[in-house]
This record gives sequence, C-alpha cells and structure tokens, in this order.
Amino acid sequence: MDSSMGAFIRGLPKAELHLHIEGTLEPELALPLARKHGIVLPYASVEELRQAYEFTSLQSFLDIYYAATDVLRDAGDFEVLTSAYLKRAHEQGVVHVELFFDPQVHTGRGVALASVLSGLTRALEQASHAYGMTHRLIPCFIRNLGADAAMQALDELLAHRSEIDGVGLDSTECGYPPSLFRQVYDRARRAGLQVVAHAGEEGPAAYIGEALDLLRVQRVDHGVRCEEDPALVDRLVRERVPLTVCPLSNIRLKVFDRIESHNLKRLLDAGVCVTVNSDDPAYFGGYVLENYLAVQQGLNLSAQQIRALARNSFEASFLPPEQRQRWMTAVDQYRA
Ligand code: HPA
Ligand code: ZN
Repeated sequence: MDSSMGAFIRGLPKAELHLHIEGTLEPELALPLARKHGIVLPYASVEELRQAYEFTSLQSFLDIYYAATDVLRDAGDFEVLTSAYLKRAHEQGVVHVELFFDPQVHTGRGVALASVLSGLTRALEQASHAYGMTHRLIPCFIRNLGADAAMQALDELLAHRSEIDGVGLDSTECGYPPSLFRQVYDRARRAGLQVVAHAGEEGPAAYIGEALDLLRVQRVDHGVRCEEDPALVDRLVRERVPLTVCPLSNIRLKVFDRIESHNLKRLLDAGVCVTVNSDDPAYFGGYVLENYLAVQQGLNLSAQQIRALARNSFEASFLPPEQRQRWMTAVDQYRA
C-alpha cells in the first residue's frame, strides 16, 4: 500500500452516506451477544462466522446478514454496535455520517422501535460530544415486505418523527421496483423527511428512473447500473443527483467482478456526483478508508480525484448548506 496516500485519505474530512448499522456487526461482537441472549448461531467461532462471508449475490448476503442481526435484542446492543462503528469511522476521518437502519427487521422479531432508536441515538449523541461528529438517521423500508408493510412502518416511525431525518428503501431489489412505494414516499415527503432509495445495484437502470420520477429521491443509493442508459447518466449529471457508491460491496456481491472493472472512475469523469461509502463494512471487507484505498489503487485515482470524492460526500449530504460549504472548503484546503 502507498502509505502516504493512505495517510492523505485518512486525514481528509469525509462524510459517510451509505452505511447500514446492522452491517457493522463484526463476528467479534456477534458471538458474545449471541451468548448473552442464549442464541445458538450455527457458527462456533469468529473464524467460522467470517468464513461464511462468501457471497454470490445480494440475496446470499442478506440471508446471513438477517440471521446475524438476530443477536441485537436490546437498546444496549444497538448502542454498543453503533459506538464501535462511530469510533472506527472517526479514526478514519469521517466527520459526518448518515446512518441507515432496518426497523421492520427488528420490530418483526419483537424488538421495539423505541429500543432500537434509544440505543442508536445514545451512541450518536456520545459521538457528537466526543468527536464533534454530526449525523442523520435514515430508517429503510424492506422492499420485499411490500408497500403495505412499509406504510405501517412509516406510521410507527412518524410517532418518533423528531428522532429521524429521512427514509430509504433496501433489501431484495429485483422484483420490487420503486413504483410499489410511491404512496409511502408521498407521505414521507409530506412529513418533511428526506428521501433516498437503493436502486440500480442489482436492479436495472429503469429502477433508478422510477426512484427519481415516482419517489422523487434526493440521492440514489448504489445507482451504478445507470451506465446501461446513457440518457440517464446525462440526467444524473445535469440534475447533479448524487450516487452513494459502495465499491467493496459491489465486488463482494458480484455487481462487478473486480475492482479494476468498477465504473466509479468513468462516472466521476462523466461528471456524476459519486461518493464512496462502505455499505455493510463487517461483511464486505472494509470501512470507508479501505473503500477509498481500493478504488484509488484499483482505478489509479489521483489525489485530486480522491479530493473530489470527499467533496462530493459533503455536497450530497443532508447537512445545511452553510455546513456543507464549510466542509467542502476544508476538503479543498486539506494538506496531509
Ligand atoms: N442492498 C440492499 N439491501 C441492503 C444492502 C444492500 O447493499 N445492505 C443492507 N441491506
Ligand atoms: Zn446498502
């Protein structure tokens, strides 16, 4: 590794905009939590659990991800999980995080939304005091549970309106187009929530168009399959729609076969507002720094291109305009 580039990226102020907190559950925490709650996981050791992280598709990942998530049972579990992620992110130069979580996955197995939220917010408030880190909290609807379940989840979330900032859409993409969730998103927008959605990860470019036209999302999570529709790429550039790209995730889930064939650099060169994020770092072999390093090395990105990615991460964030601008200036002026 070019260690001076590593130090440059680590010190560069960055926002992380695509991070599922459940996806930060390292085997080293999952196993003790399973013991604490008397849950038997089909993996005896940290090594065995980590060896199970061989995925062939999004679905093969989701199956193990949901199984492991079952060890998160009380507010303390969510707090420990979130604090560990925030500490790591801080050490990698992340100054602002927009964090996803999956409320339906927890309420569906009897864990109250209030418990989840209290654990997450305690950790986020502590990181704000300890590191000055800012955050937004974005619950995601599980698309394969359908629109009625999403509407019900939104009802419950709106009872906690002051604790959340937006909504997203995740889980099994193919067969569950954004169009199914139009009314849910209409209602979320009326409640003043920010709106994003996963689209164009495994699903076709048309899903990205639907997310923009029907859900009126402000950013697209993943979105890498936009390239299959050149007119869509032009639109993303023209309307400056950000994409939250997750390079190591894309390799692990076989969206691209190797980092050298990832389209991040082409999209950046085309003028798309692309950002680099870790998605589910415990499962995909790296946090945000490792994702930046992977694309820097695999795609031979210059320091200026790395700087542009960090700048985009603030431009694409839901921080107020003056804070966004302040961080973009800090990125421009940063010297390792
Ligand atoms: N895609 C869809 N759903 C998810 C992901 C993802 O990358 N990570 C966690 N849930
Ligand atoms: Zn994701």
